[in-house]
Amino acid sequence: MRSITETVQAKPWVGWLLFFGTMIAVFVMGMFTYTIVERRTEAQFMLSPPTDIDPLEPRPEVWGRTFPRQFNTYEQMADTSFRSKHLGSYRRDLLEENPRLVILFAGYAFSRDYNLARGHIYSVVDVQETLRTGAPMEKGDGPQPATCWTCKSPDVARLMHEHGPDGFYAKELSDFGHEVVNPISCASCHDPETMNLRITLPALAETFERTGRDVTKATHQEMRSLTCAQCHVEYYFGKDNYLIFPWDEGMRAEDMAEYFDERNFVDWTHGVSRAPMIKAQHPDYEVFTTGIHYQRGVSCADCHMPYKTEGGQKFTDHRIQSPLNNIANACQTCHRQSEEELIRNVYDRQDMVKEVRTTLEDILVKAHLEAEFAWNQGAEEEQMADALHLIRHAQWRWDYAAATHGGSFHAPLELTRTIGAGIDLAHRARRKIASVLIDLGHTGPVPLPDVSTKEKAQAYIGLDMAQLRAEKEEFLDTVVPQWLAEAHERHQRWDERKADPDWEGSYLFD
Ligand code: HEC
Ligand code: HEC
Ligand code: HEC
Ligand code: HEC
Repeated sequence: MRSITETVQAKPWVGWLLFFGTMIAVFVMGMFTYTIVERRTEAQFMLSPPTDIDPLEPRPEVWGRTFPRQFNTYEQMADTSFRSKHLGSYRRDLLEENPRLVILFAGYAFSRDYNLARGHIYSVVDVQETLRTGAPMEKGDGPQPATCWTCKSPDVARLMHEHGPDGFYAKELSDFGHEVVNPISCASCHDPETMNLRITLPALAETFERTGRDVTKATHQEMRSLTCAQCHVEYYFGKDNYLIFPWDEGMRAEDMAEYFDERNFVDWTHGVSRAPMIKAQHPDYEVFTTGIHYQRGVSCADCHMPYKTEGGQKFTDHRIQSPLNNIANACQTCHRQSEEELIRNVYDRQDMVKEVRTTLEDILVKAHLEAEFAWNQGAEEEQMADALHLIRHAQWRWDYAAATHGGSFHAPLELTRTIGAGIDLAHRARRKIASVLIDLGHTGPVPLPDVSTKEKAQAYIGLDMAQLRAEKEEFLDTVVPQWLAEAHERHQRWDERKADPDWEGSYLFD
């Protein structure tokens, strides 16, 4: 074989080829090194950015100037086009889809209006728009307390800083309509000094303390779920509408039922059966902790905020949504199965839980209507007490399973167990009512009304929907624009102070 020197002497063009080839290789390598160094600097910058963000800054766009990637993905939550078989980000009218809910929630605001969640970016708008919050035309008007704002906005942490948690909870929702305008965002989960995850709302830390744990000792992986557990939990309004998580006896449905019974707590008296009801909120965290993923150390963020890579930079996807819209990043990092198979696994579990849940719903609707019939036949409180207590417990178990929209996947076994217990309780309630009716001299079937559509059911329980909608429209046309104008002026004041080199202390507070 000839040496390179001999080859080049024989064919000079090979020399030139080698020369230019090396030049190009060196150039490309230089480019690589340059981008790597640039990304490294960027990564370092992302970890310890020079922020002048106030710890309670509620506006996502202000944080977004320093953290554009997280902010851009956060903003993608505005897209509500995704639909999965049972969930998704579009506005779904659950009462229209399932009119049984109107009867189950009779006498409570959920019978007016109940939509599926659209995403964090809509948290404030959805509170303003739902018929559940009514039309508070003046500050101090009801029907809902300020406590309702708690899990909707980082403005709440700012207001609690000013008024104290009890001062905040004691007000009406309408008192703070002009203050709470920014949807759930960066300040809800991050400390801007370090960008570490943090807990900003007091209820979770208080609950940990009462039950002998310390939330500040949570590990990093736990925090990737606990930041969500500030809001995605069961809660109730105690004295002076103070927000409390009922975890003192445990986090399963029966533990919380015991907690509520001990305190004789009643959310509302049922509009049809007069049972003393408890409304389940959304025990997402509690139910999740009974499932296999939690038990294997997987966190909420692993599926709902997976890592994403853009321009060689790995970062956390802040579009919090159904993981079924992002299976490659959300599931296939751990599972080797195909997208179709994983989707089928999810749908199978959801379908099975829904099947038993619907069975329980049917029995519960009948129990409420039969109790109403017994009252109309002249039943006495004493005669009805046992049946109503059973209805309270059966519906609590149904709601615990229904209100946690992701629960059928997060922990299908626990939900099936809970619904199973509910089916037994609801059957027992119906038997009690049947024996009351026999005592009252009524035998034979109970005539049930036609409540098979949302409209029929709402008319049956006596809701004047046209009036509720008209009031809401006026509220949205007149009051909400005033709230937003006041907020805009406040934000401008903050920006002026932030830009003022002589301003000392927090620019959010005078
Ligand atoms: C400050 C309270 C709060 C925190 C913290 C919070 N959420 Fe939410 N979340 C909400 C509210 C309120 C909604 C409903 C918003 C709406 O649709 O109006 C919601 C909606 C959702 C939805 C439904 C979105 C859709 O497209 O259907 C998911 C999924 C979700 N959150 C997951 C999480 C995860 C995961 C975390 C933690 C990383 C978290 N949330 C932290 C309050 C919170
Ligand atoms: C519901 C809670 C939540 C909200 C709201 C939130 N984040 Fe995050 N953020 C997280 C989680 C969880 C991580 C992953 C942290 C980890 O594992 O260390 C994260 C990580 C980050 C990081 C570290 C780098 C990375 O991408 O992993 C930055 C920077 C960041 N978020 C910025 C923001 C900004 C800006 C906003 C507002 C537009 C925001 N976050 C809103 C929960 C949240
Ligand atoms: C961080 C890793 C991780 C991620 C992300 C993850 N999983 Fe899993 N998954 C696990 C582990 C671990 C188990 C338990 C299996 C075992 O230990 O053998 C599991 C179990 C399951 C099971 C069986 C559950 C049962 O009922 O027995 C299903 C189905 C599943 N995962 C689907 C999904 C889907 C769908 C996603 C995305 C939305 C997902 N997983 C995301 C780690 C993960
Ligand atoms: C292993 C992956 C995984 C983990 C971990 C996980 N989820 Fe989910 N979550 C899902 C899937 C899959 C769905 C069903 C989505 C669908 O049907 O479109 C879901 C649904 C939800 C929904 C309802 C979404 C909607 O569109 O209304 C919420 C809210 C939610 N999860 C919150 C949480 C919270 C809070 C945690 C932690 C306590 C958590 N998830 C942990 C996979 C996960």
